[in-house]
Amino acid sequence: MDPLIFENGTLMVLDQTRLPAEVSYIEIHNHTHMAEAIRNLSIRGAPAIGAGAAYGIALGAKMIKEPDMAAFLEELDGVIKAITATRPTAQNLFRAAARMRQCAEQVGSPVLAKEALISEAKRIHREQYDQDMAISLHGLDVIPAGAAVLTHCNTGSLATAGYGTALGAIKLAHRHGKAVRVLATETRPLLQGARLTALELGEAGIPFELIADSAAGHYMARGKISLVITGADRIALNGDTANKIGTYTLAVLAGVHGLPFYIAAPLTTFDPAAATGNNIVIEERNTDEITFFNGVPSAPPNTPALNPAFDITPARLITAFITEQGLLRPGEICRIITRSA
Ligand code: MRU
Repeated sequence: MDPLIFENGTLMVLDQTRLPAEVSYIEIHNHTHMAEAIRNLSIRGAPAIGAGAAYGIALGAKMIKEPDMAAFLEELDGVIKAITATRPTAQNLFRAAARMRQCAEQVGSPVLAKEALISEAKRIHREQYDQDMAISLHGLDVIPAGAAVLTHCNTGSLATAGYGTALGAIKLAHRHGKAVRVLATETRPLLQGARLTALELGEAGIPFELIADSAAGHYMARGKISLVITGADRIALNGDTANKIGTYTLAVLAGVHGLPFYIAAPLTTFDPAAATGNNIVIEERNTDEITFFNGVPSAPPNTPALNPAFDITPARLITAFITEQGLLRPGEICRIITRSA
């Protein structure tokens, strides 16, 4: 199950909103289609969004008729704006879009730019797998044999269009015979843990149990969890980390129970323009995701609700970041990522 397939000029996105019941692909013809697929979570997970956005921008560029380079770039900015207006927290989306813009600027004509953009999108997609494998290999250093790992949301191949970050490290530990077992949180409200992580763990043959998000403290108190590893949507320079709503609660619980709490993420998820978590925009989603369950009301009509998609885990609660360049303590981020204006 590949979340993103680009073959013979055709782009297909796995509709993750239908998993696990149905494996179906949507054909994406232009950037508007891709923006919609990102917005409605057909494609989700910060790195997969980045790769999908890159293809979306390349397809949008193909439709631009302008023969003049300056006018072409102006229209390309409109394409990029439409794509980046979808999910404000996912740093990889903005990183991929900036890289695509830079790629277009570097060639002399719209014809060449259109070709270069397709190649660049393929490169961004391909690089993800290598980054994920490097992250997963470094993850082996923090996962002891026989560990019970708690993870949140979905950070596997479905979330990165590669091998996975937090879930990549868990899968690799399993492949290395470390006899890991996993507690996967269901991840309310959209159940990325129940629908997607459970699917990936099952396919990989890794022993696991699905738990309600609110059961994590119970199992930590009973000594059933050795460590926590999650992914990230955006990481500030001081180490404050935005990830799926509920991550902060897990980090607090891990701290109280003396458990290591790791964030696995590629360097493309670090935001050189965010000094702290206060500079990270948290996506607020439609409250129907809270007041309805599978299209059926789960609260009285017109119940006021709040639906932040992410929260910020303060750096002090994070043991280390597992990146493709190795483990980074929060205080070491500035050594690798330099602040941008
Ligand atoms: O809303 P989603 O499903 O896109 O949220 C995904 C997460 O929060 C992931 O943990 C994060 O993007 C990292 S994916 C490797």
